[in-house]
Amino acid sequence: MKNKIAVGFKALALALALTASPAFAADDPVKIGFVVKQPEEPWFQDEWKYAEQAAKEKGFTLVKIAAPDGGQVLTAIDNLKAQHAQGFVICTPDVKLGPSIVAKAKMNRLKLMTVDDRLVDGSGKPIEAVPHMGISASKIGEQVGQAIADEMKKRGWKPEETGALRISYDQLPTAKDRTDGAITALTAAGFPKANVVNAPQAKTDTENAFNAANIAITQNPKYKHWVAFGLNDEAVLGAVRAAEGRGFRADNMIGVGIGGSKSALNEFAKAEPTGFFGSVLISPKRHGYETSVDMYEWIKNDKAPPPLTLTTGRLVTKANAGEVRKEMGL
Ligand code: GLA
Repeated sequence: MKNKIAVGFKALALALALTASPAFAADDPVKIGFVVKQPEEPWFQDEWKYAEQAAKEKGFTLVKIAAPDGGQVLTAIDNLKAQHAQGFVICTPDVKLGPSIVAKAKMNRLKLMTVDDRLVDGSGKPIEAVPHMGISASKIGEQVGQAIADEMKKRGWKPEETGALRISYDQLPTAKDRTDGAITALTAAGFPKANVVNAPQAKTDTENAFNAANIAITQNPKYKHWVAFGLNDEAVLGAVRAAEGRGFRADNMIGVGIGGSKSALNEFAKAEPTGFFGSVLISPKRHGYETSVDMYEWIKNDKAPPPLTLTTGRLVTKANAGEVRKEMGL
Protein backbone atom coordinates (compact mmCIF):
# COMPACT_ATOMS: atom_id res chain seq x y z
CA MET A 1 0.00 0.00 0.00
CA LYS A 2 2.67 2.44 1.11
CA ASN A 3 4.67 1.60 -2.00
CA LYS A 4 1.69 2.22 -4.24
CA ILE A 5 1.18 5.67 -2.74
CA ALA A 6 4.87 6.50 -3.15
CA VAL A 7 4.76 5.44 -6.80
CA GLY A 8 1.59 7.48 -7.30
CA PHE A 9 3.25 10.57 -5.83
CA LYS A 10 6.32 10.10 -7.96
CA ALA A 11 4.19 9.84 -11.11
CA LEU A 12 2.25 12.96 -10.12
CA ALA A 13 5.42 14.92 -9.45
CA LEU A 14 6.85 13.83 -12.77
CA ALA A 15 3.66 14.77 -14.63
CA LEU A 16 3.69 18.20 -12.98
CA ALA A 17 7.33 18.74 -13.87
CA LEU A 18 6.70 17.80 -17.48
CA THR A 19 3.60 19.93 -17.99
CA ALA A 20 4.74 23.02 -16.07
CA SER A 21 5.42 26.00 -18.33
CA PRO A 22 9.04 27.27 -18.45
CA ALA A 23 9.81 28.20 -14.88
CA PHE A 24 10.90 31.75 -15.57
CA ALA A 25 8.68 34.84 -15.62
CA ALA A 26 10.15 38.14 -16.78
CA ASP A 27 10.19 39.76 -13.34
CA ASP A 28 11.43 36.71 -11.41
CA PRO A 29 14.78 37.34 -9.70
CA VAL A 30 17.57 35.57 -11.58
CA LYS A 31 19.58 33.00 -9.62
CA ILE A 32 22.58 31.22 -11.14
CA GLY A 33 24.70 28.39 -9.75
CA PHE A 34 28.45 28.26 -10.32
CA VAL A 35 29.71 24.77 -9.51
CA VAL A 36 33.45 24.01 -9.42
CA LYS A 37 35.42 20.80 -8.92
CA GLN A 38 38.35 22.17 -6.88
CA PRO A 39 37.45 25.18 -4.71
CA GLU A 40 40.89 25.22 -3.06
CA GLU A 41 42.62 25.99 -6.37
CA PRO A 42 43.28 29.71 -7.02
CA TRP A 43 41.98 29.40 -10.61
CA PHE A 44 38.52 28.44 -9.37
CA GLN A 45 38.54 31.04 -6.59
CA ASP A 46 39.26 33.62 -9.28
CA GLU A 47 36.49 32.31 -11.51
CA TRP A 48 34.06 32.69 -8.59
CA LYS A 49 35.37 36.18 -7.91
CA TYR A 50 34.67 37.33 -11.47
CA ALA A 51 31.31 35.54 -11.51
CA GLU A 52 30.44 37.58 -8.38
CA GLN A 53 31.42 40.71 -10.24
CA ALA A 54 28.98 39.80 -13.03
CA ALA A 55 26.26 39.11 -10.44
CA LYS A 56 26.76 42.56 -8.89
CA GLU A 57 26.73 44.32 -12.24
CA LYS A 58 23.69 42.52 -13.67
CA GLY A 59 21.80 42.21 -10.41
CA PHE A 60 21.42 38.43 -10.14
CA THR A 61 22.11 36.07 -7.25
CA LEU A 62 25.13 33.77 -7.60
CA VAL A 63 25.18 30.46 -5.73
CA LYS A 64 28.74 29.14 -5.42
CA ILE A 65 28.95 25.39 -4.91
CA ALA A 66 32.00 23.16 -4.49
CA ALA A 67 31.48 19.66 -5.90
CA PRO A 68 34.67 17.56 -5.78
CA ASP A 69 32.88 14.30 -6.69
CA GLY A 70 29.98 13.01 -8.75
CA GLY A 71 27.58 12.57 -5.84
CA GLN A 72 28.07 16.17 -4.82
CA VAL A 73 27.45 17.36 -8.38
CA LEU A 74 24.07 15.62 -8.55
CA THR A 75 23.08 16.90 -5.09
CA ALA A 76 24.17 20.40 -6.09
CA ILE A 77 21.83 20.37 -9.09
CA ASP A 78 18.88 19.31 -6.90
CA ASN A 79 19.75 22.00 -4.37
CA LEU A 80 19.86 24.65 -7.07
CA LYS A 81 16.39 23.65 -8.18
CA ALA A 82 15.12 23.75 -4.61
CA GLN A 83 16.50 27.28 -4.29
CA HIS A 84 14.67 28.37 -7.46
CA ALA A 85 17.77 28.88 -9.57
CA GLN A 86 17.11 28.91 -13.31
CA GLY A 87 20.50 27.74 -14.55
CA PHE A 88 24.10 26.92 -13.69
CA VAL A 89 27.65 26.98 -14.98
CA ILE A 90 29.80 23.98 -14.04
CA CYS A 91 33.36 22.69 -14.11
CA THR A 92 32.73 19.04 -13.29
CA PRO A 93 35.09 16.79 -11.29
CA ASP A 94 34.66 14.12 -13.99
CA VAL A 95 33.72 14.82 -17.60
CA LYS A 96 32.25 11.31 -17.93
CA LEU A 97 29.37 12.46 -15.71
CA GLY A 98 28.21 14.31 -18.84
CA PRO A 99 25.04 12.34 -19.61
CA SER A 100 23.95 12.31 -15.92
CA ILE A 101 24.50 16.05 -15.57
CA VAL A 102 22.56 16.77 -18.75
CA ALA A 103 19.69 14.51 -17.67
CA LYS A 104 19.55 15.98 -14.16
CA ALA A 105 19.58 19.56 -15.46
CA LYS A 106 16.81 18.74 -17.91
CA MET A 107 14.70 17.05 -15.26
CA ASN A 108 15.05 20.11 -13.04
CA ARG A 109 14.51 22.52 -15.93
CA LEU A 110 17.81 24.25 -15.33
CA LYS A 111 19.83 25.79 -18.12
CA LEU A 112 23.31 24.29 -18.31
CA MET A 113 26.63 25.61 -19.49
CA THR A 114 30.11 24.18 -18.87
CA VAL A 115 33.40 25.93 -18.22
CA ASP A 116 37.02 24.63 -18.40
CA ASP A 117 36.27 20.90 -18.68
CA ARG A 118 33.88 19.83 -21.45
CA LEU A 119 31.35 17.06 -20.82
CA VAL A 120 31.68 13.87 -22.86
CA ASP A 121 29.11 11.24 -23.77
CA GLY A 122 29.30 7.47 -23.31
CA SER A 123 31.73 7.11 -26.21
CA GLY A 124 34.03 9.90 -25.02
CA LYS A 125 32.86 12.50 -27.58
CA PRO A 126 32.17 16.07 -26.41
CA ILE A 127 28.49 16.80 -25.77
CA GLU A 128 28.10 19.61 -28.26
CA ALA A 129 24.56 20.53 -27.26
CA VAL A 130 25.88 22.05 -24.01
CA PRO A 131 27.44 25.52 -24.49
CA HIS A 132 31.05 25.51 -23.36
CA MET A 133 33.92 27.89 -22.66
CA GLY A 134 37.39 26.38 -22.37
CA ILE A 135 40.98 27.22 -23.21
CA SER A 136 42.46 26.44 -26.63
CA ALA A 137 44.26 23.54 -25.05
CA SER A 138 46.57 22.27 -27.83
CA LYS A 139 47.67 25.76 -28.78
CA ILE A 140 48.39 26.77 -25.20
CA GLY A 141 50.27 23.50 -24.71
CA GLU A 142 52.38 24.38 -27.73
CA GLN A 143 53.16 27.78 -26.18
CA VAL A 144 54.39 25.91 -23.09
CA GLY A 145 56.60 23.59 -25.17
CA GLN A 146 57.98 26.48 -27.22
CA ALA A 147 58.83 28.46 -24.07
CA ILE A 148 60.72 25.47 -22.68
CA ALA A 149 62.57 24.88 -25.96
CA ASP A 150 63.57 28.55 -26.19
CA GLU A 151 64.88 28.63 -22.63
CA MET A 152 66.81 25.36 -23.12
CA LYS A 153 68.49 26.83 -26.17
CA LYS A 154 69.34 30.01 -24.25
CA ARG A 155 71.00 27.94 -21.54
CA GLY A 156 72.82 25.80 -24.09
CA TRP A 157 71.48 22.51 -22.69
CA LYS A 158 72.05 19.42 -24.79
CA PRO A 159 68.66 17.80 -25.53
CA GLU A 160 70.14 14.31 -25.12
CA GLU A 161 71.14 15.15 -21.53
CA THR A 162 67.71 16.51 -20.65
CA GLY A 163 64.60 14.69 -19.48
CA ALA A 164 61.08 16.08 -19.92
CA LEU A 165 58.48 15.39 -17.24
CA ARG A 166 55.01 15.12 -18.66
CA ILE A 167 52.76 15.38 -15.61
CA SER A 168 49.72 13.73 -17.11
CA TYR A 169 46.03 13.32 -16.38
CA ASP A 170 44.89 11.74 -19.64
CA GLN A 171 41.33 10.94 -18.55
CA LEU A 172 40.60 14.68 -18.92
CA PRO A 173 40.69 15.62 -22.63
CA THR A 174 41.81 19.23 -22.06
CA ALA A 175 44.71 17.94 -19.95
CA LYS A 176 45.79 15.48 -22.63
CA ASP A 177 45.54 18.14 -25.35
CA ARG A 178 47.66 20.56 -23.30
CA THR A 179 50.48 18.11 -22.63
CA ASP A 180 50.37 16.68 -26.18
CA GLY A 181 50.66 20.25 -27.48
CA ALA A 182 53.76 20.78 -25.36
CA ILE A 183 55.34 17.61 -26.77
CA THR A 184 54.51 18.70 -30.34
CA ALA A 185 56.34 22.00 -29.90
CA LEU A 186 59.27 20.46 -28.03
CA THR A 187 59.89 17.74 -30.60
CA ALA A 188 59.46 20.23 -33.46
CA ALA A 189 62.30 22.16 -31.82
CA GLY A 190 64.49 19.04 -31.88
CA PHE A 191 63.83 17.55 -28.45
CA PRO A 192 64.09 13.72 -28.56
CA LYS A 193 60.68 12.13 -27.99
CA ALA A 194 62.36 9.22 -26.17
CA ASN A 195 63.36 11.62 -23.36
CA VAL A 196 59.76 12.48 -22.52
CA VAL A 197 58.91 10.69 -19.28
CA ASN A 198 55.23 10.18 -18.56
CA ALA A 199 54.34 10.89 -14.92
CA PRO A 200 50.63 10.29 -14.34
CA GLN A 201 49.07 12.10 -11.39
CA ALA A 202 46.20 10.46 -9.49
CA LYS A 203 44.48 13.81 -8.85
CA THR A 204 45.06 17.23 -10.34
CA ASP A 205 46.79 18.91 -7.43
CA THR A 206 50.34 19.76 -6.43
CA GLU A 207 50.73 16.88 -3.99
CA ASN A 208 49.82 14.24 -6.57
CA ALA A 209 52.03 15.90 -9.18
CA PHE A 210 54.89 15.89 -6.66
CA ASN A 211 54.49 12.16 -6.11
CA ALA A 212 54.30 11.43 -9.84
CA ALA A 213 57.39 13.53 -10.60
CA ASN A 214 59.34 12.11 -7.69
CA ILE A 215 58.93 8.55 -8.99
CA ALA A 216 59.77 9.58 -12.57
CA ILE A 217 62.96 11.41 -11.59
CA THR A 218 64.12 8.58 -9.35
CA GLN A 219 63.60 6.06 -12.14
CA ASN A 220 65.61 8.14 -14.62
CA PRO A 221 68.90 9.01 -12.96
CA LYS A 222 70.75 9.54 -16.25
CA TYR A 223 69.58 13.07 -16.99
CA LYS A 224 71.63 16.16 -16.14
CA HIS A 225 68.70 18.56 -16.45
CA TRP A 226 64.93 18.38 -16.36
CA VAL A 227 62.07 20.30 -17.92
CA ALA A 228 58.42 19.92 -16.88
CA PHE A 229 54.93 20.64 -18.12
CA GLY A 230 51.39 19.58 -17.21
CA LEU A 231 47.72 20.51 -17.04
CA ASN A 232 48.18 23.60 -14.90
CA ASP A 233 50.52 25.50 -12.57
CA GLU A 234 49.81 23.13 -9.69
CA ALA A 235 51.06 20.16 -11.74
CA VAL A 236 54.29 21.93 -12.67
CA LEU A 237 54.80 23.20 -9.12
CA GLY A 238 54.66 19.61 -7.89
CA ALA A 239 57.32 18.68 -10.45
CA VAL A 240 59.49 21.64 -9.46
CA ARG A 241 59.32 20.72 -5.74
CA ALA A 242 60.14 17.08 -6.51
CA ALA A 243 63.11 18.11 -8.66
CA GLU A 244 64.40 20.39 -5.89
CA GLY A 245 64.22 17.46 -3.51
CA ARG A 246 66.46 15.52 -5.88
CA GLY A 247 68.95 18.36 -6.27
CA PHE A 248 67.68 19.93 -9.51
CA ARG A 249 67.24 23.59 -8.64
CA ALA A 250 66.60 26.70 -10.79
CA ASP A 251 69.70 26.23 -12.94
CA ASN A 252 68.84 22.62 -13.83
CA MET A 253 65.07 22.74 -14.11
CA ILE A 254 62.71 24.57 -16.48
CA GLY A 255 59.06 24.21 -15.53
CA VAL A 256 56.37 26.06 -17.44
CA GLY A 257 52.79 25.93 -16.14
CA ILE A 258 49.37 27.02 -17.33
CA GLY A 259 47.28 29.46 -15.29
CA GLY A 260 49.37 32.39 -14.16
CA SER A 261 47.29 33.00 -11.04
CA LYS A 262 48.30 33.00 -7.37
CA SER A 263 50.18 29.70 -7.47
CA ALA A 264 52.51 31.06 -10.16
CA LEU A 265 52.74 34.56 -8.69
CA ASN A 266 53.82 33.23 -5.27
CA GLU A 267 56.61 31.39 -7.02
CA PHE A 268 57.72 34.43 -9.02
CA ALA A 269 57.67 36.53 -5.84
CA LYS A 270 60.43 34.46 -4.22
CA ALA A 271 63.73 36.32 -3.89
CA GLU A 272 65.68 33.43 -5.43
CA PRO A 273 64.37 32.12 -8.77
CA THR A 274 63.08 28.52 -8.68
CA GLY A 275 62.69 25.86 -11.36
CA PHE A 276 59.25 27.32 -12.05
CA PHE A 277 60.38 29.37 -15.03
CA GLY A 278 57.09 30.58 -16.46
CA SER A 279 53.40 30.07 -16.99
CA VAL A 280 50.95 30.64 -19.80
CA LEU A 281 48.54 33.13 -18.30
CA ILE A 282 44.90 32.34 -19.05
CA SER A 283 41.89 34.42 -18.05
CA PRO A 284 39.72 33.46 -15.07
CA LYS A 285 37.93 36.74 -15.74
CA ARG A 286 36.71 35.59 -19.14
CA HIS A 287 35.83 32.14 -17.78
CA GLY A 288 34.04 33.41 -14.64
CA TYR A 289 32.54 36.70 -15.77
CA GLU A 290 31.59 35.90 -19.36
CA THR A 291 30.03 32.51 -18.67
CA SER A 292 27.92 34.05 -15.88
CA VAL A 293 26.77 36.90 -18.12
CA ASP A 294 26.03 34.37 -20.89
CA MET A 295 23.88 32.37 -18.50
CA TYR A 296 22.13 35.52 -17.28
CA GLU A 297 21.28 36.59 -20.84
CA TRP A 298 20.00 33.10 -21.59
CA ILE A 299 17.66 33.10 -18.59
CA LYS A 300 16.58 36.73 -18.74
CA ASN A 301 16.42 37.37 -22.51
CA ASP A 302 16.33 33.88 -23.97
CA LYS A 303 19.61 34.55 -25.77
CA ALA A 304 21.54 31.24 -25.89
CA PRO A 305 25.32 31.36 -25.31
CA PRO A 306 27.72 30.65 -28.20
CA PRO A 307 28.05 26.85 -28.50
CA LEU A 308 31.84 26.90 -28.07
CA THR A 309 34.30 29.59 -26.97
CA LEU A 310 38.02 28.85 -26.74
CA THR A 311 40.20 31.41 -24.96
CA THR A 312 43.88 32.17 -25.51
CA GLY A 313 46.90 32.62 -23.25
CA ARG A 314 50.16 34.55 -22.95
CA LEU A 315 53.51 33.44 -21.59
CA VAL A 316 54.56 35.18 -18.39
CA THR A 317 57.78 34.87 -16.39
CA LYS A 318 59.14 36.35 -13.18
CA ALA A 319 60.13 39.41 -15.23
CA ASN A 320 56.77 40.41 -16.72
CA ALA A 321 53.91 38.64 -14.89
CA GLY A 322 52.61 41.75 -13.09
CA GLU A 323 52.64 43.87 -16.21
CA VAL A 324 50.88 41.31 -18.45
CA ARG A 325 48.23 40.60 -15.80
CA LYS A 326 47.45 44.30 -15.65
CA GLU A 327 47.13 44.45 -19.45
CA MET A 328 44.66 41.54 -19.29
CA GLY A 329 42.61 43.39 -16.66
CA LEU A 330 43.41 40.91 -13.87
C1 GLA B 1 41.08 22.66 -15.88
C2 GLA B 1 42.19 22.64 -14.83
C3 GLA B 1 42.27 23.99 -14.12
C4 GLA B 1 42.38 25.12 -15.13
C5 GLA B 1 41.23 25.08 -16.09
C6 GLA B 1 41.35 26.15 -17.16
O1 GLA B 1 39.84 22.66 -15.26
O2 GLA B 1 41.94 21.63 -13.88
O3 GLA B 1 43.40 24.00 -13.29
O4 GLA B 1 43.59 25.00 -15.84
O5 GLA B 1 41.19 23.80 -16.73
O6 GLA B 1 40.35 26.05 -18.12
